[in-house]
Amino acid sequence: MAAFEYRDDRLFVEGLALDELATRFGTPAYVYSRAAIEAQWRAFDEGLEAVPHLVCYAVKANSNLAILNLLARLGSGFDIVSDGELERVLRAGGDSGKVVFSGVGKSEWELRRALAVGILCFNVESEAELERLNHLAGEMSLRAPVSLRVNPDVDPKTHPYIATGLREHKFGIAMEDAVDLYRRAHAMSHIAVHGIDCHIGSQLTELEPFAEATRRVLALADELLAAGLELTHLNLGGGLGIRFCDENPATPAVYTQLLCELVQGRPFKLLIEPGRAIVGNAGLLLTRTEYIKHSGAKHFAVVDAAMNDLMRPALYQAWHDIAPVHLRADIDSETYNVVGPVCESGDVLGAERTLKVVAGDLLAVHSAGAYGFSMSSNYNSRPRAVELMVDGSEVRVVRERERVEQLYAGESLLPD
Ligand code: LLP
Repeated sequence: MAAFEYRDDRLFVEGLALDELATRFGTPAYVYSRAAIEAQWRAFDEGLEAVPHLVCYAVKANSNLAILNLLARLGSGFDIVSDGELERVLRAGGDSGKVVFSGVGKSEWELRRALAVGILCFNVESEAELERLNHLAGEMSLRAPVSLRVNPDVDPKTHPYIATGLREHKFGIAMEDAVDLYRRAHAMSHIAVHGIDCHIGSQLTELEPFAEATRRVLALADELLAAGLELTHLNLGGGLGIRFCDENPATPAVYTQLLCELVQGRPFKLLIEPGRAIVGNAGLLLTRTEYIKHSGAKHFAVVDAAMNDLMRPALYQAWHDIAPVHLRADIDSETYNVVGPVCESGDVLGAERTLKVVAGDLLAVHSAGAYGFSMSSNYNSRPRAVELMVDGSEVRVVRERERVEQLYAGESLLPD
């Protein structure tokens, strides 16, 4: 069953009509499908059945506790990049022994906390971080489990802001420095070397960059094994793209089959860190049209969601499908810029969209389950949207709409 589909010209999520959700919970609202999230996670997990593996959901894509909890119940691991994400995973019932910690700037207290709860692996991104981790683990009389994140210098052919695996990026350790650093790591008394990690970018729509990065990681693994350095796992990161418009990324089944073929017969457990491909198309942003405005030759549909709710169009010129919740037959279509109320010309959710819409109509901004709410802000002092999880014909508020008082709850006035 498609998560979002029209029935008699009305858009449904699983068993519920979106117009009814808008009436009950207001707009803007993020709406997620439990079935879609679970199906996508399972597709990765089942696709890797042929090899020992762990699917570590990238928490940054959508860190709502309900989503983390659903995935924890399925047995998911988690890829985190901050203590905040670690605390969310623990709060949601995730297993600390299935957490991997990525990121170039892990602070001392974040490393200490992750050591204390006993995570599966630190994806170390520099020599300085390795030394810091060795020192802190020593203070705690522990050995820190480590992968070195290498930079395979492969072009992922994606938007430059979300490419990470090229030599010029801040991420990872250059391939030519890796063997030396592995030797140093091996010699450190409070480091336990477990694996190799890489992640080359996000929203990849071609498979070849994944294959090339994997081949380079395997070549490094061979070099390390030949030098007598044992490894237990390979972490190939996340990055599989989704369809926003007319892209044709591989399905999780095809992607995982490729990975299995490449690593089969090797003595490694395989870790992957998908985020977007699990939640991206399992969520949409529901918004109501406030005004229709005509200005010169331009037509605007001014809606109640804005760039603070969904930043991707403004930040990456990302294209999200925008569709009416009710399909109208009574008016002609027009070309609109769908814009929000924020005081920036860049507050455009979708430019040049052909729509049949009048003031008051609901619109669905699709593919908003990943990097939607998690990148939202309070810019223009806008309370963040409610988040709803639909499960069949049931719905739950999994995050309340923020109240205005919450916006300034931690602020204070200067004394007279
Ligand atoms: N692992 C690491 C180390 C990462 O840096 C990322 C994403 C992932 C896994 C998950 O990648 P995914 O499977 O979701 O592509 N805000 C941007 C995306 C930034 C991705 C950052 N890293 C966007 O909205 O497109």
